[in-house]
Amino acid sequence: MNFFTKMLDFSDKVVIVTGGLGLIGKQLVLAFNEFNATVIVLDLLSERFEEYFSSCENIHFFKTDIAEPKEIQTSVERIIKDFRKIDVWINAAYPRTTDWGKAIDEVSFESWNENLKLHLGSYFWSSKTVLEVMKEQKTGNLINFSSIYGVVGPNFDVYKGTDMTMPVAYSAIKGAITNLTRYFATLYGSHNVRVNCIAPGGIYNHQPEKFVEKYNELTPLKRMGRDYEIAMPTLFLASEAASYITGQTIIVDGGWTAQ
Ligand SMILES: NC(=O)c1ccc[n+]([C@@H]2O[C@H](COP(=O)([O-])OP(=O)(O)OC[C@H]3O[C@@H](n4cnc5c(N)ncnc54)[C@H](O)[C@@H]3O)[C@@H](O)[C@H]2O)c1
Repeated sequence: MNFFTKMLDFSDKVVIVTGGLGLIGKQLVLAFNEFNATVIVLDLLSERFEEYFSSCENIHFFKTDIAEPKEIQTSVERIIKDFRKIDVWINAAYPRTTDWGKAIDEVSFESWNENLKLHLGSYFWSSKTVLEVMKEQKTGNLINFSSIYGVVGPNFDVYKGTDMTMPVAYSAIKGAITNLTRYFATLYGSHNVRVNCIAPGGIYNHQPEKFVEKYNELTPLKRMGRDYEIAMPTLFLASEAASYITGQTIIVDGGWTAQ
């Protein structure tokens, strides 16, 4: 294989995708698999794993609630036992409460706290756990999922005429994830461990027509993202092609944050 081509090859690499059965996560799993990685999906939905990946070679499933520190620990130990190492860990799960999506006047203090615990807490704890493993290995690569709303404030005009809104906790969580990424990048850089972040814009997923029209109009590329369009920027960050990139947030948003 040629010098640059080899940088994108994940043969012999063990890649973990939390939330690997979600809209974006599924595409991440398919992309890494296509570039020859051994992929381990950590998610809650065993049946969905069967549906998506049971016929695929080299894709494994460890049922894990990543909001539970003990379950993270158990899965990390199992991965090390079965696969010997963790080359790449991607935090792409989206834990949230059942009352998620409410407007600010309906958000209780308990719900705010619970969402911070579930989402920011799980990204923090899994990062902390895995980065220690990578430090021991003297190599590794962690990627967190943020959002455009971790970088800029929401434009509430896109929700007009729909029952959608942007939950306040999401902005706080995603903003924290971009800076947590910088913290870990500077802390673990000297151990040859890179930590980066991906911030997607809105991905089309059959949202109400009014929302989609407005979102398209407000985006420089005049459309929402497609689920598979996040996979290759993530794979790039995780690959040798990005060997001198750490602590960064790559925004994949059709230009939303450029205006
Ligand atoms: N979809 C978008 O438009 C968009 C935009 C910007 C950022 N993001 C971010 O990208 C990431 C993926 O988003 P998505 O749209 O694919 O989400 P999704 O809701 O489609 O999928 C999330 C996955 O996480 C899993 N999950 C939830 N709680 C879990 C837990 N406690 N333990 C293990 N797995 C759990 C779910 O089972 C699901 O498979 C999230 O961090 C999200 O905030 C998404």
